[in-house]
Amino acid sequence: MPTPAESPFLGACRSLPVDRTPVWFMRQAGRSLPEYRALRGSGSILEAIADPEIAAEVTMQPVRRYGVDAAILFSDIVVPVHAVGFGVDVVPGRGPVMATPFSTTSDLARLPDLDPERHLPYVLDTVDRVVAQLGDTPLIGFCGAPFTVASYLVEGGPSREFTKVKALMHGQPDLWVSLMERLVASSVAFLRAQVAHGATALQVFDSWAGSLSPSEYECFALPATAAIMAATADLGVPRILFGVGTGELLSLMATSGADVVGVDWRVPLDEARRRVGPAVALQGNLDPALTFAPREVLAAGVRRVLDAAGTAPGHIFNLGHGVLPTTDPDALKMVVDLVHAEGRAGVSK
Ligand code: CP3
Repeated sequence: MPTPAESPFLGACRSLPVDRTPVWFMRQAGRSLPEYRALRGSGSILEAIADPEIAAEVTMQPVRRYGVDAAILFSDIVVPVHAVGFGVDVVPGRGPVMATPFSTTSDLARLPDLDPERHLPYVLDTVDRVVAQLGDTPLIGFCGAPFTVASYLVEGGPSREFTKVKALMHGQPDLWVSLMERLVASSVAFLRAQVAHGATALQVFDSWAGSLSPSEYECFALPATAAIMAATADLGVPRILFGVGTGELLSLMATSGADVVGVDWRVPLDEARRRVGPAVALQGNLDPALTFAPREVLAAGVRRVLDAAGTAPGHIFNLGHGVLPTTDPDALKMVVDLVHAEGRAGVSK
């Protein structure tokens, strides 16, 4: 039996030859699975995340159903700020909402140091339980990137225009740096704890980075992400950096220290490869909307991604963003089987 260190997923993250193209899906845990909805009940997702028995089961469900090459921990990017008492809820159908948004220097005191063993014992318990069940399948731990988490803290909830967070970064750059430092510290502590409990890869979700221009990204977001990458490099696990709408940012993201850069569906992987250079692996990038198309159209979309990925090592198949709530699980199962049958990036047999 291969050990996790030799898994197709971990190998591809390291741009090594693999025996099949690995595939997993962002937001595979929860969302569209009927067995998730049955388990989840109607409370806040934060309650389900705080119950290690439920959270471990939700993490395992897509591994069993789809045969994906990695599990991702069932949690959320706002869980660390919630755990230190910032005052967050996650509203179904909407997303994270702050009781009182972050706006002034005094709000920094609402982000005390995160001690994962003290503030998040239930998440680490979930990691323990999942690792015990997963066998050879790697577990991806994660956090939100400081910019994306800050966008929720400052806007007070989901945003389209990001006006408040941009006003703060441009107008109060010193406060912005302090906020980034707080979020880097908690992210690093949380990622390191997940690895200490058995996560074998990490993903940093900078989902809303695409709202920034390249110079804004370089000045206000990338330094914090790069600091997280630097402070997790010694762990020896691959780190993935993902964002949406980041076509113009890909070359900068490749300088973050991440081992893998995630790409949404707007940039074909051969063009993404030109932008990131040869040193990082690529993850992506099927348009999640194609899972609603007829199966032959979906299959053609999968093959376009595989063709654009080419044959050189270093491709992890994924959607270009998360699974949509009404996606038919059978469509995702078909994608997994097709990628395993036809993926060629670095495949040595
Ligand atoms: O990927 C996985 O399956 C693991 C679990 C996971 C969740 N959130 C569970 C969740 C992960 C990795 C996240 C990360 C996350 N959370 C991100 C980055 C990834 C991305 O999609 O860009 C972001 C931006 C958030 C913030 C957030 N949480 C949003 C925007 C929403 C959606 C609101 C909705 O209901 O559509 C959530 C809620 C959430 N987090 C759900 C799940 C399964 C769905 C709602 C629920 O079950 O209550």
